[in-house]
Amino acid sequence: MKKQDLVIVGGGSTYTIGMVMSLIAEKGNFPLKSLTFYDIDSKRQEKNAKATEIILKEKYSEIEEFTYTTDKEEALKGADFVFVQIRTGGLEMRVKDEEIPLSYGAVGQETCGPGGMAYGMRSIGDMIELINDIRRYSPDAWILNYTNPAAIVAEALNRVFSDDKKILNICDMPAAIMVSYADILGKEIWDLVPEYFGLNHFGWFSKIRDRDGNDLTDQLKSHILNKGFVPEDSEIADDPSWQKTFKQVQIMLKDFPDYLPNTYLQYYLYPDNMVKKEDPKYTRASQVMDGREKRVFKLADEIIGAQTTEGADLEVDIHGRYMVRVAASLAYNVGDIYIVIVENNGIISNLADDAMVEVPAVLTNDGPKPLAVGKIPTFQKGLIEGQLAYEKLVVDAYFEQDYNKALQALTLNRTVVNAPVAREILDELIVANKEYWPKLN
Ligand code: NAD
Ligand code: G6P
Ligand code: MN
Repeated sequence: MKKQDLVIVGGGSTYTIGMVMSLIAEKGNFPLKSLTFYDIDSKRQEKNAKATEIILKEKYSEIEEFTYTTDKEEALKGADFVFVQIRTGGLEMRVKDEEIPLSYGAVGQETCGPGGMAYGMRSIGDMIELINDIRRYSPDAWILNYTNPAAIVAEALNRVFSDDKKILNICDMPAAIMVSYADILGKEIWDLVPEYFGLNHFGWFSKIRDRDGNDLTDQLKSHILNKGFVPEDSEIADDPSWQKTFKQVQIMLKDFPDYLPNTYLQYYLYPDNMVKKEDPKYTRASQVMDGREKRVFKLADEIIGAQTTEGADLEVDIHGRYMVRVAASLAYNVGDIYIVIVENNGIISNLADDAMVEVPAVLTNDGPKPLAVGKIPTFQKGLIEGQLAYEKLVVDAYFEQDYNKALQALTLNRTVVNAPVAREILDELIVANKEYWPKLN
């Protein structure tokens, strides 16, 4: 088994230490020769890196080299895989993405609605620059991107790098939901085979089967309808915000019983309720800064202070494991089926070919081979087409620097709808993002 040279871009991320733990848990499936962190923020990255040195010394002695740097060339040379997890503007800008729409009574969320548009318009430029740099130094590396908003990033990258078949955009949400399904069914997530369709953060499970082919969908639905739904993955299980989000799945399923919804659909189907639930002065971004961010860097400090991981609360979560298993399937031609983001090209047969859709695919060393979905029903098709038009208009607005397209995008979005509100939110987002967005004319 060839050992891999892996680079993590965004080494200072709150997900880095969890990813390191996943690489350790999955070392039999995806063995590493070297691991490199790259980030533009040396201080933020250094904490994760110093803790990682100790973690690897104790738990991954097989790894030959671990380095971290803010030098692109040094970091990106000779990689087999590059995982990308950056956040342009940081969590400080996420606060604005969420607070501004909420102040106009619209959903304020990281990836959904106006917040997602604002974050997307910040991410696209950095992502294009990064992919160009990765290709300069590692022309054949697999690039796994989970930088958000993944739907908009995927659409933009697919336009600019249309010939590059080794960029794959992924989201962990379907897998995080499947962890809860597995718990209900008394199985491991890896025993479940999903059928799923939609866009990123905008899709449905149409079937859940086990590896023997038994259809478990009805059992799952009736459990959720009768007993509710809770997060089980270690990263989110104890988080009140995620608990509320999973609870909403029961309501969505009661209202629309055909398919099992992705949790993110709550923002599009119940926007008014979602706004009412939020404190516009203490949104999810602030909760994450006081929660995950503080927790992760405190953990790193403890490990560095003690110079050992003994007694440290290190956990393996589905986010990291999912990304690593996807990488393993691509690297070693395993042919496992995972839900990923790919160009449609007839997979959902009554949806445009050039949509970036989220569907199950067989992952081989020749890339993802998505499985046919066929025709989807009118309700889901209508919702998806509206959202898809929004996503395409955001990317158009970015490349064409077109104010009107940005306004059209927000007006189309189910979380906004009213044109005058869309204009007010857009104008305030433009001011807040003046250092990041292209100038819209
Ligand atoms: P974070 O702000 O803690 O970490 C991001 C890191 O990226 C920071 O250390 C920052 O300095 C660095 N960075 C920013 N711009 C960079 C650039 N141009 N080059 C190199 N490094 C750069 O954010 P986080 O909350 O840990 O999330 C990281 C990313 O992962 C976000 O985009 C988040 O939305 C995404 N994410 C996606 C999924 C998914 O399912 N797709 C799941 C979890 C997280
Ligand atoms: C899920 C989504 C990600 C999102 C993450 C964190 O895993 O798939 O896209 O970034 O949740 O959300 P949070 O609100 O907890 O930062
Ligand atoms: Mn996601």
